[in-house]
Amino acid sequence: MKALVLAGGKGTRLRPLTHTAAKQLVPVANRPILFYVLDNLAKAGITEVGIIIAPETQRAIREAVGDGSRWGFRLTEYIFQEEPLGLAHAVKVARPFLKDSPFVMYLGDNLIGGDIKNFREDFGNAGSDALILLKQVEDPSSFGVVEIDGTGRVLKLVEKPKEPKSDLALIGIYFFSPRVHRAIDEIRPSWRGELEITDAIQRLLDTGGRVSSVVLKNWWIDTGKKDDLLAANTVVLDEWISREISGSADKASQVIGRVALGKDSKIVGSTVRGPAVIGENVLVKDSFIGPFTSIGNGSQIVHSVIEHSVILEGVSIENVDRMEDSLVGNGAKIFKDRAARQGYRLLVGDDSVVEL
Ligand code: G1P
Repeated sequence: MKALVLAGGKGTRLRPLTHTAAKQLVPVANRPILFYVLDNLAKAGITEVGIIIAPETQRAIREAVGDGSRWGFRLTEYIFQEEPLGLAHAVKVARPFLKDSPFVMYLGDNLIGGDIKNFREDFGNAGSDALILLKQVEDPSSFGVVEIDGTGRVLKLVEKPKEPKSDLALIGIYFFSPRVHRAIDEIRPSWRGELEITDAIQRLLDTGGRVSSVVLKNWWIDTGKKDDLLAANTVVLDEWISREISGSADKASQVIGRVALGKDSKIVGSTVRGPAVIGENVLVKDSFIGPFTSIGNGSQIVHSVIEHSVILEGVSIENVDRMEDSLVGNGAKIFKDRAARQGYRLLVGDDSVVEL
């Protein structure tokens, strides 16, 4: 079985971070989301991986993943999708790579708890043309929505319906037999101008293909927006981080619970309460770092309180009384001038959001 990983798209909902980085490389617990996807493929024993890249993401994705040998992949092929014309279009572009192999398509910004290994086995045993993974969601209208009967047989799929007939969303992981290619050839672009994989799966059904489904028991987070990303960070810190101290903390500091502290990082006169991850070469001074916070390499936090936030690399935060539920991009500086000023003085990048 091969894998097709999608790492294209413009990432508009995560701007401004995605002006300069691919959304699949935004970190969760200080690791790019895409790396968790590749981990999961490797654990399922998949070694031939095609990665869809777009003009906006290609350089960064290639740099981050390289030849994939870190995951033990035998073949890592980059496949260029010039325009974001849909998930089914991405499969079309990848056809020379996929050939007649069964494959798993995995959206590079989707995170799930648990492995896909069992689903790979289920798909192999069932001998169906598609195995789709589903999850109950509160707002199905922003996803592909699936109706199933009591036995899990798939009845109907609709992409982002205005009036959803069920609360089961398609999560971004799909297993296909090569029969999907014909279905893709037979569909037309949707109202949003994209070739939808949801429509291709419906086409498979309509032409007598066998589509099976499984409802995911574990969590699933589509990390495309700020709050989803913070939620993903919280869950990953909660479930996967263990205490690992490489850096140092002085006598006046407390490092409590499951905290990963990278090498050459210093905690001075501060409290860090886990679960939290602090990268390499970070300075935390006279501060409190609360649970569910990730701080990227080379950042400096001085005389501040931060909780439930994702701070990327090379960030400097000083004299900030309390920051929470925040996402701060690379190299940003946030500080309060001690001399009381009348107004806020901001230099804010395109598409930033500042809640005061
Ligand atoms: C895509 C699919 C949708 C699926 C979702 C999962 O949506 O079209 O069916 O439910 O991924 O993340 P998009 O990210 O294009 O809005």
